[in-house]
Amino acid sequence: MQTRSAIVHSVPGKYEVVDLELEEPRQGELMVEVAAAGLCHTDDHVATGDMPVGKYPWCGGHEGSGVVVQVGPNTPGWREGDHLVFSPTGPFCGRCRWCASGYSTLCDSAANLLDGDRWDEPGSFRMTLDGQPVGQMCGVSTFSAHTTVAAEACLKVDDDLPLDVLGILGCCVGTGWGSVVNCSGARPGDTVIIMGIGGIGINAVQGAKHISAGTIIAVDPVAFKLRKAREFGATHTFASIEEAGEFARSVTGGHGADATIVTVGVTTPEHVSQAYTTIRKMGTLVLTGLGDLSAAGARIPLGDLILGQKRIQGNIYGACSPGRDIPRQIQMYRDGVLKLDELITTRYPLDDVARAYEDMHAGKNLRGLVVHNWA
Ligand SMILES: NC(=O)c1ccc[n+]([C@@H]2O[C@H](COP(=O)([O-])OP(=O)(O)OC[C@H]3O[C@@H](n4cnc5c(N)ncnc54)[C@H](O)[C@@H]3O)[C@@H](O)[C@H]2O)c1
Ligand SMILES: [Zn+2]
Ligand SMILES: [Zn+2]
Repeated sequence: MQTRSAIVHSVPGKYEVVDLELEEPRQGELMVEVAAAGLCHTDDHVATGDMPVGKYPWCGGHEGSGVVVQVGPNTPGWREGDHLVFSPTGPFCGRCRWCASGYSTLCDSAANLLDGDRWDEPGSFRMTLDGQPVGQMCGVSTFSAHTTVAAEACLKVDDDLPLDVLGILGCCVGTGWGSVVNCSGARPGDTVIIMGIGGIGINAVQGAKHISAGTIIAVDPVAFKLRKAREFGATHTFASIEEAGEFARSVTGGHGADATIVTVGVTTPEHVSQAYTTIRKMGTLVLTGLGDLSAAGARIPLGDLILGQKRIQGNIYGACSPGRDIPRQIQMYRDGVLKLDELITTRYPLDDVARAYEDMHAGKNLRGLVVHNWA
């Protein structure tokens, strides 16, 4: 069938909406009518070329939610009409060392997530444009009115929940929240700095609140972001990491932050160098933000790192396990503990994806959301 989708033809480029051809689901796959798609900065990294992918044109979007419209043959457990959230770090095999230890986001099979083809059948695509294959972001492509995906990349959700809002659970919420809850080692009463208050950073603020951090310091050059950070639980806000580091030392007897989380939109080695200076002995620097994936050269003084017994922690999807953590997050949302509705600043029709990314760069949104079927 034909479907409307936002693609980048080549990089550097911008998302452009086209009609492309979508294949029916094969065994183990679902065709989904996408309800909503979160506008994560990572899809912009693909458009700028900072994050190279395996096949152009490329259909973007990895956060999202939708409704099953067709179930592939011999695909148990799914029915037409089921509501779901996409899990962009899935599908996962369930058998490798990482899956077996509860780290399905590190599954060996997910190594080709940015190739755009089927995770279990390299070279096999489900989208085409003028007869040429189109790569699918994380095998998902939520910037498309309809998409065909592996059933393992989907999590069923109750249909009484607002489906559009759940669209941001697959990346934005878990990545930020888990950056603190799962990756930072921060404890109740600790001092936590979050550098960069976009969709990811604001959820790190929520995570810091959930672990009862004592001092939650938000850093962003944009005043609107700092105002929002206060609403979500930040106790102090600063426009620069230098001021935040100085403040953290002033409230910890000169030691510094127990943990600093880097969630800057285009993270550079310079940001990492700056953030490193804010952590205390045995403190943790969590690196969540992405930029040029080939970048190197952050200044980490080795003596200070080694003799201060400090930790630098990478992170994909906040070290959340989708099958475990998305249902927990939904329960916290039902209980009023996790804010989701308040994360969405602006809703856009699919045709406005490029404008939505301009708004993101202009600092206008905590999170933008594409709503398909825009009335
Ligand atoms: N590791 C992962 O699994 C993972 C998952 C999702 C997103 N990401 C990455 O996380 C980053 C954040 O994503 P997002 O969607 O929240 O982006 P965003 O653009 O919405 O937010 C980034 C924020 O950083 C701020 N910023 C820019 N320069 C800064 C500086 N020097 N100091 C402090 N703040 C600064 C911006 O004003 C903005 O508010 C992106 O690089 C994205 O690709 C990583
Ligand atoms: Zn695996
Ligand atoms: Zn993302």
